[in-house]
Amino acid sequence: CGIIGILGNEPAGPRVIEALRRLEYRGYDSAGIATLDQNEIFRARAPGKLKNLEGVMANVATPGNTGIGHTRWATHGAPNETNAHPHIAGRVAIVHNGIIENFRELRAEMEAKGRKFVTETDSEAIAHLVEVELEAGKTPFEAVKTTLPKLRGAFGIAILIKGEEDLMFGARKGSPLIIGVGEGETYLGSDAFAVAPFTNKVIYLKEGEWCALTRHSINVFNETSEQVPYAIDTVQGVADVVDKGNYRHFMLKEIFEQPESTARTIGAYVNALNQTAALPNGQTLDFAAFDRVYIVACGTAYYAGCVAKYWFEKYAKLPVETDIASEFRYRDPALTKNALAIFVTQSGETADTLAALRYCKEYGLTTAAVVNVQTSTIAREVDAVLPTLAGAEVGVASTKAFTAQLCSLASIAIIAGRARKVLSKKDEARLTDQLMQIPGLITQALKIEDATKEIAVDLSSARDVLYLGRGTMFPIAMEGALKLKEISYIHAEGYAAGELKHGPIALIDEHTPVVMIAPTDHLLEKTISNMQEVAARHGKVLLISDENGAKTGADTPWQTLIAPACDPFISPILYSVPIQLLAYYIAVEKGTDVDQPRNLAKSVTVE
Ligand code: G6P
Repeated sequence: CGIIGILGNEPAGPRVIEALRRLEYRGYDSAGIATLDQNEIFRARAPGKLKNLEGVMANVATPGNTGIGHTRWATHGAPNETNAHPHIAGRVAIVHNGIIENFRELRAEMEAKGRKFVTETDSEAIAHLVEVELEAGKTPFEAVKTTLPKLRGAFGIAILIKGEEDLMFGARKGSPLIIGVGEGETYLGSDAFAVAPFTNKVIYLKEGEWCALTRHSINVFNETSEQVPYAIDTVQGVADVVDKGNYRHFMLKEIFEQPESTARTIGAYVNALNQTAALPNGQTLDFAAFDRVYIVACGTAYYAGCVAKYWFEKYAKLPVETDIASEFRYRDPALTKNALAIFVTQSGETADTLAALRYCKEYGLTTAAVVNVQTSTIAREVDAVLPTLAGAEVGVASTKAFTAQLCSLASIAIIAGRARKVLSKKDEARLTDQLMQIPGLITQALKIEDATKEIAVDLSSARDVLYLGRGTMFPIAMEGALKLKEISYIHAEGYAAGELKHGPIALIDEHTPVVMIAPTDHLLEKTISNMQEVAARHGKVLLISDENGAKTGADTPWQTLIAPACDPFISPILYSVPIQLLAYYIAVEKGTDVDQPRNLAKSVTVE
């Protein structure tokens, strides 16, 4: 969920909407706004995307220069209007991101005292708790101070109180919250991006901190409510407006941006002149001293980590364990002390990944993040920031952020390989040279767009699709299946091609298309055999390969998509492109909401 709060000197309504538009990546199940004016609270809410809220606001007045807003990714309670934030109890209006774990107890306590709850959310309890304290005669400050320690779980909160038009409270525990510092105005936001239209001066609240703001004063408190100092940071580059240009969807635009986004990212690690690789900004990590690497991430970023495992083990002889963040933190992993933990994340805000990072820090591991948003919480908390320079990614289904993650991880694998003396200077030169070819090869690969469109027409009627690959193409198969699921709602699975015979082959019939991702490498012959196993059972195979691969498997596939030939080292980056285009055009064919598919959020900031 995304939060904005404004103590301003002009009408808050349109400004809240402007900020929420920048926060929609955190969810778009519902949105809402509350403003204060003349001793009244005004509120407008709507299920679904922000434009629905704008529609409501055309008819419902939200006057006043003080306001809070919220865009929701539903956890407790259906994404309808009643459950949309802000929540109001008496004089108190709140917006909340996260989960209040003990909300049932809190709710029961207050219902026993006769308070009426109108929503199914965990968040409503916060408003009631503050209101109860106000009714007992406490000042707004004391009421908030008494309430916060009662909340268990993860939260970012903004609170307004009727009649207090120059007062706003914010609290952060688990979910990020920043204060924006303007000229005679103050703001709260889930991230610096939210307040960027108003200011680039921000205060990152630390874990457990809360604040009381007026237009001219900022007071920050720690978890035990002692006043603490704060630092104002100036952030750069978050104000950029992103638009679709001539593309029909952000996703397509972002797919086509990959020649530049990969070039930028590789350029941050590779010195083309000397054919060497190094971590950006003079950072170092002692790869020779690490005995293993844990790569922890969610979703698409996790699949980037799975590809990296192949690279780190092959080119740096460094054992890698990959983990899904939500599993990692709760499975009591047997961590070794000399390990490096790498967190891969586009947003740098994913709650599970953040929790896994904190777990590793507590254990004393060296931590690093392959991260796209440099101002994010995760980027701020790790020892080493390993940037991806994909630029802002708007489409919920990750494309250019994924290939940028691969470019960073491939570069880091080379750096590790050199440090561990597995790679010679010559190897380093050869591999960095391969990386330098990626942008050009992606430009060529994008030419399969038209061929993909035709195939997509046929595949759009499938109920299930299997994606198969070996080696680094196995995680690419999983990513291909994820892309298809996310945006077309067609069920898809990615499998290691060699595993086909151990189960998934039972699914094969003439109605189940199989996407074989098989570039020319030492595994090609084996994958082609798997393809024949599918064909023998009347499966309909789409082979994605290069000229040579297409020739090798010529008689079997139903269709072939031909990518440019490349070195196996970089093939996972290049072969991301056809699977993205395929998912995209199947979704377009089905007419789904490609950029904001149902139920998903760009960044999931709850557990
Ligand atoms: C969400 C997005 C995915 C993304 C995942 C991890 O589920 O919909 O596209 O891969 O979060 O996000 P992160 O920002 O940590 O890479």
